Amino acid sequence: MFKYRLIPSPRMAPPGDKILVTGALGQIGTDLVEELRARHGTDNVIASDVREMPEHPFLEDGPFRLLSVLDGDGMDAVVREDEVGTIYHLAAILSATGEKDPDLCQRVNVGGMTNVLETAMNNDLRVYAPSSIAVFGPDASKIAAQNSPLNPTTTYGETKRTGEALAREYLANFGVDCRGIRYPGLVSWKAPAGGGTTDYAVEIFHAALEKGHYECFVGPDTRLPMMYIDDAIRATLELMDAPAESLGSSRAGYNVSGISFSALELADSIAERIDGFTCDFVPDGRQAYADSWPDTVDDSAAQEEWGWKAEYDLDAMVDAMIESISSN
Ligand code: NAD
Ligand code: SER
Repeated sequence: MFKYRLIPSPRMAPPGDKILVTGALGQIGTDLVEELRARHGTDNVIASDVREMPEHPFLEDGPFRLLSVLDGDGMDAVVREDEVGTIYHLAAILSATGEKDPDLCQRVNVGGMTNVLETAMNNDLRVYAPSSIAVFGPDASKIAAQNSPLNPTTTYGETKRTGEALAREYLANFGVDCRGIRYPGLVSWKAPAGGGTTDYAVEIFHAALEKGHYECFVGPDTRLPMMYIDDAIRATLELMDAPAESLGSSRAGYNVSGISFSALELADSIAERIDGFTCDFVPDGRQAYADSWPDTVDDSAAQEEWGWKAEYDLDAMVDAMIESISSN
């Protein structure tokens, strides 16, 4: 098990007002950086990732730093040189990839989170660090409550539970303002999904439009909490805009509900819009991870504390995905 330490150190220079996004070339970062740059100005939002992608617009359209979240000194240097005041910490290894390499998953997810919180503590930064519905295990109710016991059966889920615990500890001990959302499975079209169990809900659209057929790696009755990307980005920004006084003990990982549908309901909804689309269900090892997660979540705390309400239902999401992929 990864060990982490809390070492108090003095606050350094006052924070700048720029934003650093880690893991920016991934599924969420690709949408979030665009929205942050529209809000704050391109030069004020520094995209970073451990990899470079020649075709990715962030490498040419605005500031980009090649940065591993495992390099704490490098992160600290970027924060100081670029006068960063807030980190959106998206770098992680997701569930399907993480269960294949649990050691890497622990190092990147827990080690990266620790480096971000240390950097935040030393430079007086605000932090956004997402959690996941994967913090829940099979003992959680199928409508998971905010305060359900967190007994994940995946390594990925354990790292997310630890991330929430770290965020709470750095808030309590060092006053670091770190906020997070337990994202459901996110459905988006600008970037491919990054190695998670919920990737079928993204892949199915591309396969339907390109081949008219999809082989789904979970069974037809698999029902999970999901959310369209526009709702997820809005939730992220609304949480970060919320006054600190309004946030309670769920600050490190709010449940947010979006859409709950089975894999068959998703396939049927696509088939209603794409003539001749067919889907076979051939569950693989990812079925067990999906089965360990809830069907949906109770998001009363997010509603009450910062006014969360999703806009996209299944029909609206399927329409948006088909239209966006077709026209791009
Ligand atoms: P993703 O896999 O698409 O992107 C992650 C990015 O992190 C990648 O670009 C990768 O290159 C980068 N990365 C990996 N190791 C790194 C390292 N050592 N240093 C710097 N960058 C590194 O993931 P995503 O879907 O964009 O997820 C972002 C965050 O949201 C993660 O914390 C994830 O756990 C969480 N989340 C995502 C979903 C979802 O459905 N996408 C759901 C719940 C939670
Ligand atoms: N979508 C993510 C995954 O499947 C959940 O955190 O890994």
